[in-house]
Amino acid sequence: MIKYAVVDAVEGTPTTPVLQLPTPRPATPDAVAEAIAALVDQLSTRPQAPDPKASIGVALPAVVRHGVARTAANIDPSWIGTDANRLLSERTGRPVHVLNDADAAGLAEVRHGAGRGELGRPAAGTVLVITLGTGIGSALFVDGRLVPNLELGHVELDGARAETRASAVARERDGIDWPAYAERLQRYLSHLEFLLSPDLIVVGGGISARHEDFLPLLHLEAPVVPAELRNAAGIIGAARHAYQAMPTAVQ
Ligand code: BGC
Repeated sequence: MIKYAVVDAVEGTPTTPVLQLPTPRPATPDAVAEAIAALVDQLSTRPQAPDPKASIGVALPAVVRHGVARTAANIDPSWIGTDANRLLSERTGRPVHVLNDADAAGLAEVRHGAGRGELGRPAAGTVLVITLGTGIGSALFVDGRLVPNLELGHVELDGARAETRASAVARERDGIDWPAYAERLQRYLSHLEFLLSPDLIVVGGGISARHEDFLPLLHLEAPVVPAELRNAAGIIGAARHAYQAMPTAVQ
């Protein structure tokens, strides 16, 4: 699904409901660009239409360097090498800023959700945000500054890529109960904790709605908390990323 909304990027709140559109199949850059252009047109006719000059933030489940997709673990391989900023800006007629989906969710959580510190600032220290979905996404913040494109879902765990064992989809595929899943997550997160020594771990992705079933079973040195912004996190973070790219933005 492509999820979208008009967002007040300063407040970090969607001003429309979070809407969904089935991802086109195959989800090639052209097909996705067409779908995004259509949904922007459709949003523009709503009462809460975005400012005609507002820019667009897009979160993609891939490494995205300066707007160019570099990997395609769970998406159409034709994204690799695509200048997504350029393609989507051309199709929508607005400035578009693309970033990794977990980076987007993390930006939202450290600014407006479970990773925020005092006075609306991101928490100080090292904050690790992990999203559990089809794959595993990761975002690392050091005193509120993002280290972009960290692919921690791809570290090796028990001889396999971690996301093939500990993602939400891996749990469903293997039909394991919550304690068995928590055991896998424990192995994964304690490995990351050893590597990165975070001060706080935020766990997001759709599965975090069920956090009471597995987070209390984890034993880590850092506090582990569920993400707060749920399915709006990626949208809010993408909007924040687009906003920060504006020359007039208050950072
Ligand atoms: C991708 C990441 C993405 C994560 C979550 C992984 O398979 O490599 O770029 O952030 O899935 O969607």
